[in-house]
Amino acid sequence: MLRILVTGGCGYIGSAAARLLAREGHAVTVVDDLSEGHRQAWDGELVVADLLDEDAVRKLAQRRFDGVIHFAARAYVGESVQQPLRYWRANLVPLIHLCAALEGVPVVLSSTCAVFGLPQAPALAEDHPQAPVNPYGATKAAAERLLADRAAAGQGAYAALRYFNAAGADADGRHGEDHRPETHLIPRAIAAALGRAPALTIYGADWDTPDGTCVRDFVHVEDLAAAHLRALERLARGGSSGCWNLGTGRGHSVREVLGEVERALGAPVPWNGGPRRPGDPPYLVAQPARARADLSWQARHDLPSIVASAVGWHRRHPNGYTP
Ligand SMILES: NC(=O)c1ccc[n+]([C@@H]2O[C@H](COP(=O)([O-])OP(=O)(O)OC[C@H]3O[C@@H](n4cnc5c(N)ncnc54)[C@H](O)[C@@H]3O)[C@@H](O)[C@H]2O)c1
Repeated sequence: MLRILVTGGCGYIGSAAARLLAREGHAVTVVDDLSEGHRQAWDGELVVADLLDEDAVRKLAQRRFDGVIHFAARAYVGESVQQPLRYWRANLVPLIHLCAALEGVPVVLSSTCAVFGLPQAPALAEDHPQAPVNPYGATKAAAERLLADRAAAGQGAYAALRYFNAAGADADGRHGEDHRPETHLIPRAIAAALGRAPALTIYGADWDTPDGTCVRDFVHVEDLAAAHLRALERLARGGSSGCWNLGTGRGHSVREVLGEVERALGAPVPWNGGPRRPGDPPYLVAQPARARADLSWQARHDLPSIVASAVGWHRRHPNGYTP
């Protein structure tokens, strides 16, 4: 049994990981300021605190933890372009506070494929060059670097897990995605098809891809949760630090995703064409071989399973976590 601090554990991915860790018998403490997260997403021990408050982090660290999984961050790419300082503060200062207060404690970091920038290969392996094209990706690349420097100084091991497109909802039907605003494709497509949101905008239909729309690698939130457990177990066993790309290794175009949503709902997804967005690459697909080899992790859910679970959640919870 590990004592694990989960930051941002009332958020979408953090709460899925916290629930899995608790089901596996670990002692989980969630810290979240509820700025984006939902109290109903996690029914275990919760400390409501802002990780920008160094005293609050020091107080929390007086308890003993065997590991930290750090999900808390701001994660809207467009907003990061408008408000870069806010992103550098929100995505680096809490990590600095945690590392200072919890010397020697292993950290698993929520990172992202946005650390790479524009892909130079069809599928991205961990050693692909990093050249983020927005402040969000740059803050996550810096967070990885901070943890690598800390590990090199012997002050704590780390695992940076770079998710591609997180999607889907828990099998129990009680938990799912509820971002405000929602910027992710699958929940937006479902909301548009159910008439709860305006028609979806597809940003560019003239890319050099099979159907002209962008191709992304969608990975189920429960698969991501499992990867965090594997990463933490590796570090707790004394395994070496590193970065791992988490995706299925299989890309799906925006049009394919809409087709899958239409099949699952039996209703069309209204959409209209918009211009390409700057910094949007045509392909973003993971090469997940290292995660398979080092973490014995492989995504189990495919696109139909991801979409079916998301549709179930959105049908049953038209207002997300709001009753
Ligand atoms: N959703 C994706 O597709 C995706 C892809 C790649 C990486 N990520 C990363 O995964 C992590 C989780 O993403 P998510 O989609 O679950 O986001 P989310 O917004 O649902 O969860 C983040 C949680 O952190 C909390 N939080 C933020 N700042 C805090 C602070 N200063 N103190 C305490 N709590 C704070 C929020 O209240 C929220 O509950 C983020 O770090 C994000 O960058 C997400």
